Amino acid sequence: MSSSPAPSSRPPMVDDPHFPADPYPTYAWLREHSPAHRIPLSRGGHGWLLTRYADVVRALSDERLSKNSDLIGHGVPDPYAQSRLSANLLSLDPPDHTRLRRLVSRAFTPRRMERVRLRVTAIARELIAALPTGTPTDLISGYALPLPFRVICELLGVDGLIEREAFHGCVLRVFAPPAGTPAEHLTGHVADLERYFTDLVAAKRRRPGEDLLSSLIDAHSAQDGSLTEDELLSMTLLMLVAGYANTVNLIGNGIHILLNSPGQAHKARADGTLLPKAVEEVLRYESPIERVPTLVAREHVSYGGVRIDAGEVIYACVAGANRDPDRFTDPDRFDPHRPDIGHHLGFGQGIHYCLGAALARIEGEVALSELLNAFDDIVQAVPEDALNWRSTFLFRSLAELPVTLTRFPPR
Ligand code: HEM
Repeated sequence: MSSSPAPSSRPPMVDDPHFPADPYPTYAWLREHSPAHRIPLSRGGHGWLLTRYADVVRALSDERLSKNSDLIGHGVPDPYAQSRLSANLLSLDPPDHTRLRRLVSRAFTPRRMERVRLRVTAIARELIAALPTGTPTDLISGYALPLPFRVICELLGVDGLIEREAFHGCVLRVFAPPAGTPAEHLTGHVADLERYFTDLVAAKRRRPGEDLLSSLIDAHSAQDGSLTEDELLSMTLLMLVAGYANTVNLIGNGIHILLNSPGQAHKARADGTLLPKAVEEVLRYESPIERVPTLVAREHVSYGGVRIDAGEVIYACVAGANRDPDRFTDPDRFDPHRPDIGHHLGFGQGIHYCLGAALARIEGEVALSELLNAFDDIVQAVPEDALNWRSTFLFRSLAELPVTLTRFPPR
């Protein structure tokens, strides 16, 4: 198997300002020299970063690891983890996780999601019609963000109740704060978000419908213990935020890769059957989630030759695992034709495997196909080193993607 050579000297680590622009040499170095790597945590203390495919797969299915951040044995508690907003699937272990996942999974069956495809296509076309041509325009704010945002708002039944830019700003302040944000500011941002969701759920209670949020509200009102008030609030947050925040990055990263991989945009335009494979390859090559949210050891475990004690934090780095040469041949090459396409960990693994994977795949395919087929030429309007990759180490995300578009001439 061919291997991607790790740099011989130590590249920038995850807290270095140069890291977000190109984290892959760092992951290559870590896989080879420090597969369970000690990193500082913003809450104080340290955690362990796993970057090898085999370790990440094992960690995501390891019952000795928990999602419950109350088990973390050191440092200052994170304001989000302490708030009512965190009582959702991503912070829970069975049996609570099993109960809540059952409540919402019916809404996301692949068959049901296929019916959403028409709506995704209509929204994509509407957004494309509004994009200016011949002058630089930002595809993140004009296309990659509003498309999944509108889709998930319609599914939840909250379209018209949320002002997108203000809400997205709130989400970024909590889940992607700039490095060094003081704890008291974070506490304030979490409180803002909590107020936002309390008001949203109250507004929906006044105007129920045939949508996902109304069915969650019904489950809460049934008072049979199937959904507590905090869980209702927190599940609403998870559905809304998970429902768009990663898909923006799938679409944005996907367009960026197609524009920068010679011939790929042309091939995808000429052969529509290539797009589902291209979407899978984007999920591997430029994973929208860089590492999954915190796991905590319930007892002492061993990873990458390191003893990790009970109460210590583990970060399973999906982006590192997806470029592991022990799993993928020539991993630093974008190749939609690879034989093991789809074997990436972009949607996670195990009991927390992404509930919205079918929807995200549809949105990715439609978004890329509609864009490529609407424009004769799409050219990135700034050089690579002028792009702003957000330094969150949770999401792999471009803040903007300026392009110049040329529409096909009318026939
Ligand atoms: C490209 C887009 C997406 C990516 C890359 C993605 C990725 C992921 C990953 C890696 C996880 C596992 C997290 C963990 O193990 O802690 C996850 C969980 C989840 N995702 Fe997605 N996701 C995407 C889109 C969506 C969409 C559209 C929804 C729709 C609501 C969604 C809803 C969820 C939910 C509810 C969970 C929690 C599942 C659980 O804990 O049981 N995601 N996602």
